[in-house]
Amino acid sequence: MNAILATEPEAGVLSLCLNRPEKRNAFDRELYAALIEALERADRDAEVRVLLLSATGDCFSAGNDIVDFLAEPAQGRRTDPPLALLRAMRSCRKPIIAQVDGKAVGIGATLLLHCDLVYASDRAALVFPFVALGLSPEGGSTQLLPQLAGHIKAFEWLVLGEPCRAEAAAQAGLVNAVVPAHRLDETCLNAAKRLAALDPEAVQRSRAQLQRASGLELDTLMQAEMDQFEQLLEREAAQQALQAFVRR
Ligand code: COA
Repeated sequence: MNAILATEPEAGVLSLCLNRPEKRNAFDRELYAALIEALERADRDAEVRVLLLSATGDCFSAGNDIVDFLAEPAQGRRTDPPLALLRAMRSCRKPIIAQVDGKAVGIGATLLLHCDLVYASDRAALVFPFVALGLSPEGGSTQLLPQLAGHIKAFEWLVLGEPCRAEAAAQAGLVNAVVPAHRLDETCLNAAKRLAALDPEAVQRSRAQLQRASGLELDTLMQAEMDQFEQLLEREAAQQALQAFVRR
């Protein structure tokens, strides 16, 4: 089974769908690699003007695969794949629209902070469960969330692990619009078509400019967050919490 379902680009819109529904689209190494490759391919393909990222099933993504977090990686660090994915999303020249139905957990939520437009169904929620797992937030979220929502809401979501429901996410500016689940496809496709109808050079240069505004500082922060995450992963507290999920 393909980890990513990709359509042929239609009117400049390429649809990429996370396709591991039996594990609630948890990112294992294969899914990370497939999405990074699809992003890089789309970046090179002149026919692609806009990327639309969605997921199979009723959970957008359950975050990093917990079994992978427990296993010793064959090479590199356990946090290399999520960091590589976020960097690939940031460096991609084409805008990325996220279509979020159901829960977006862990890296599944963090990656939304690096999309250009995010539409959510009314049953969507962003969940950052890191601290309850003995871990810490990642992907620039320690800066991006307080900037958008202020310290106390960011703390509630990132440290207390309270779900950030679709409406609250829209109020905070994490999500562009919340629509009933049956209207989500149509809403995202309309936005993608509007974006694809614009001059691609102007869109790509504008995106790059927006990325540069936060650029180096955010990249340094993302590295520091992952270094800390990696240290916490080695601790007994995290190992026990992750084991508890696998054994439940
Ligand atoms: N890593 C690995 N496997 C996962 C997973 C993850 N992050 N999340 C879910 N799965 C697997 C489950 O083990 C289960 O596998 P099984 O059918 O072989 O037993 C399957 O996906 C379905 O999970 P389940 O919990 O039954 O689905 P649900 O719809 O009731 O709940 C979630 C979905 C996402 C709310 C729940 O699975 C969850 O909380 N997952 C953990 C999320 C998490 O903490 N991620 C952060 C990692 S840093």
